Amino acid sequence: MNVIAITSGKGGVGKTSLASGLAVSLQNTGARVLVIDADLGLADMNIAFNVRPAHSLRDVIDGSVAIADAIVETPCGVKLLPAYAGSFDLANLDEHRRMGLLHAVETLQGSFDTIIIDTGAGIGATAMTFAAAASQIIVVTTRELASMADAYATMKVLSQRFAVKSVRLLVNMVETAADAQVAYETIELMARRFLQLRVELVGYVCRDAAIPAAWRQGVPFVVDRPTAPASHCLRVLACRLRDPEEGGNRGVSFWRRLAAAAEVVS
Ligand SMILES: Nc1ncnc2c1ncn2[C@@H]1O[C@H](COP(=O)(O)OP(=O)(O)OP(=O)(O)O)[C@@H](O)[C@H]1O
Ligand SMILES: [Mg+2]
Repeated sequence: MNVIAITSGKGGVGKTSLASGLAVSLQNTGARVLVIDADLGLADMNIAFNVRPAHSLRDVIDGSVAIADAIVETPCGVKLLPAYAGSFDLANLDEHRRMGLLHAVETLQGSFDTIIIDTGAGIGATAMTFAAAASQIIVVTTRELASMADAYATMKVLSQRFAVKSVRLLVNMVETAADAQVAYETIELMARRFLQLRVELVGYVCRDAAIPAAWRQGVPFVVDRPTAPASHCLRVLACRLRDPEEGGNRGVSFWRRLAAAAEVVS
């Protein structure tokens, strides 16, 4: 199972937009895709896919609903395990609940080819555990200095606390491909020098008004505006990410990585 965690240091860099666009792009290549909205409290994925689900990840964590029953099919066909819109602190779940949740995710193995987890911003224990357990970690940044600094801070936690050896960088809202390269080289150099962490540039997404416009319609931009430049960037990204063996944590089961990550947090 290819588990892709989408994370960032700073908020508002485009995680939810890109995670939803990536899900659609991967599905268009024939993959069975599940999106998990692990950014509880905001439940932005419900807006991105225009669903009003009856259940959420919160019910799964509470044990009142089985994980398979909380999954909804969105209008564009992508399956979603929604978050709960309201104050709920997923970031700091106690160990028992966090492990229960992560174990429930493991039971989905076989039902999906790819699981995309929108972890939410920052370095909360749950976000970091999900990220560390994923087969590929994508750290989203923009070219803004604050965003790059926070991306590095996230990498530092992943590397030093969770012994993560490699992450992939996705630079959003760029004007040119060269912008992405500059951001990448800055972060890669620091990560190599100070963290011994391998950072690979997995792609970039250009600044494109199609993304906020589609958001307002409640349709992923890849569906709403398939010919927009940002949609093209997402198709390229989807091709790179299809093969789980291409990078990240090769060949180790999600559950084993999870157990290792959870041990660090507890
Ligand atoms: N490539 C882009 N071009 C233009 N606007 C973008 C792009 N990517 C994202 N946006 C816009 O930036 C804003 C933040 O995007 P999004 O909500 O996806 O970020 P996020 O990282 O999930 O935020 P949060 O940390 O709050 O969950 C939205 O208004 C979205 O439409
Ligand atoms: Mg978000």
